[in-house]
Amino acid sequence: MSAAGTEALGAEFVTRYGREAAVVCAAPGRVNLIGEYTDLNEGFVLPIAIPQVTHTLAAPRPDRVLRVASLDRRDDPAISIDLDRPEAPVAGWAAYPAAVARALDDAGHRVAGADVLVSSEVPTGAGLSSSAALECAVALALCALSGVELAPMAIAEIAQRAENRYVGVPCGIMDQAASMCAIADHALLLDTRTLAIRQLPFDVHGAGLGLLVVDTRVKHALGDSAYGDRRTACARAAAALGVGALRDVEVGEVAAALEEIAAKAGEEVMRRARHVLSEQARVLQTAELLDAGQIAEIGQVLIAGHASLRDDFEVSCAELDLVVKAAVASGALGARMTGAGFGGSAIVLAAATRLSEIAQEIAARFSAAGYGAPLCFSASASAGARRER
Ligand code: GLA
Repeated sequence: MSAAGTEALGAEFVTRYGREAAVVCAAPGRVNLIGEYTDLNEGFVLPIAIPQVTHTLAAPRPDRVLRVASLDRRDDPAISIDLDRPEAPVAGWAAYPAAVARALDDAGHRVAGADVLVSSEVPTGAGLSSSAALECAVALALCALSGVELAPMAIAEIAQRAENRYVGVPCGIMDQAASMCAIADHALLLDTRTLAIRQLPFDVHGAGLGLLVVDTRVKHALGDSAYGDRRTACARAAAALGVGALRDVEVGEVAAALEEIAAKAGEEVMRRARHVLSEQARVLQTAELLDAGQIAEIGQVLIAGHASLRDDFEVSCAELDLVVKAAVASGALGARMTGAGFGGSAIVLAAATRLSEIAQEIAARFSAAGYGAPLCFSASASAGARRER
């Protein structure tokens, strides 16, 4: 956000709450380069943070009340959450900050009451992890006000738990980890079993390339329940093999494992597992290429990842498929849907000089297909969450 933007936000805080904010925090959204649904199987993921962040401004209160307001809902009154009545239902977006405060409490970090103002640049409902950005930005602010010092990954775990337990979304840890732990010009290789991370060089601009994020602006209704269904299918596949998670299948055992899954749990569960196991290999292959500085070469891996999500995991949709098809046809190095799918966004990797032409081609194909205009922006691997003041 520009200095002027931050200043306007500060002024809005004063108007709302009658005093200055004591802390300002920011947490970004993310796109995943590769490793989709592997975090539900204790596998590897490889996301980057995008430049768009959610800001939280906050000041302490002497009581145990958390008041939250959003600049995106300027006319709404602030919502009050009683931190001593954590089981009281909180509706709408405020359920996220309430869940974070409660999960911090669960983890033994009793936070003080606070007045919080939120403002987000991360598009919502676009598969870019606006929820994780909100959770992480709120968690950082509450910790800062209460003098709670936690490592970035510890905050990510608390934010994920907040979403799992108290918002009721059975997500993995990728989004929160990306928001908390990403660094600029790097992709975050995260082992979701051990939570070990490695920062891999991903300076797209330095390599003469560009990364386009294409928000299809569609969200298919079945997405929410289907996420849980995919989680269940993965658990059934692991159970058929008698392993804790699909992560446990060794590379040399994949073919036999898939046969066993098909025999015991059926063809559909086998295809879900086939995606996870092949995706796991694609993450490691991509990591190797990035380690070797071969960014352009990951393009083909991204394309293969999309096909697997479309055909085996069945979480793509016509709009996402069209982005990938149009991008590849107009010379992109690679493209794939990113995030949970069923709408949301895709990423396109291409030579920097080709980016705007590819974006135009995608828009033209959307228009010809009768779809609404997609929202395209170019992104680079950006910094993770931080306290700004
Ligand atoms: C959502 C979840 C993540 C991950 C992806 C799919 O973004 O929040 O944990 O499972 O879907 O890769």
